[in-house]
Amino acid sequence: MAIVRIPAENSSLTDTNAVAAFLATHGIEYSRWTPKHPVGAEAPAEALLASYAGEIDDLKARGGYVTADVIDVKPDTPNLDAMLARFNREHWHDEDEVRFIIEGRGLFHVHPRVGPVFAIEVEAGDLIRVPRGTHHWFDLCADRRIRAIRLFQDPSGWTPHYTESGVDQGFQPVCFGPTYVSAVTRA
Ligand SMILES: [Fe+2]
Repeated sequence: MAIVRIPAENSSLTDTNAVAAFLATHGIEYSRWTPKHPVGAEAPAEALLASYAGEIDDLKARGGYVTADVIDVKPDTPNLDAMLARFNREHWHDEDEVRFIIEGRGLFHVHPRVGPVFAIEVEAGDLIRVPRGTHHWFDLCADRRIRAIRLFQDPSGWTPHYTESGVDQGFQPVCFGPTYVSAVTRA
């Protein structure tokens, strides 16, 4: 499940309902998906999309998404650094950023119109829907691995618009991981 951290307030959220409620106040949808037919994280893209067809169709109907695909990033993915550099500076898109994480982890930072920057660390089973226009940036975690279903309103329009604010420079792209969650739970 996702972890939300608010560095300016030195606080974090690890409870699924609390994470969803907090993100909802910023217009970000968060939920957990369970496949109708359990499918392995290494399954072919077509099998993944088929397994989650019900959830994907529901999102398409609600958000006007027309296509879905599967992105697969590994440490040895060619030009990985160049790919990541497109998204690790504050930017926004003309359409929603919709990701369902199949495997690996990732770190979104969101710079809301009101309130401090917060980070969302996502992992397998997490669905996140960041509305168009939201200022954000994205990093992989240290293992540089993520596999995710993406939904698009217009695949040709998937372009980052950079704010050039420099706000991203003030935040470390460090994931806390499951160890952190268990430590918080024990505390
Ligand atoms: Fe983005």
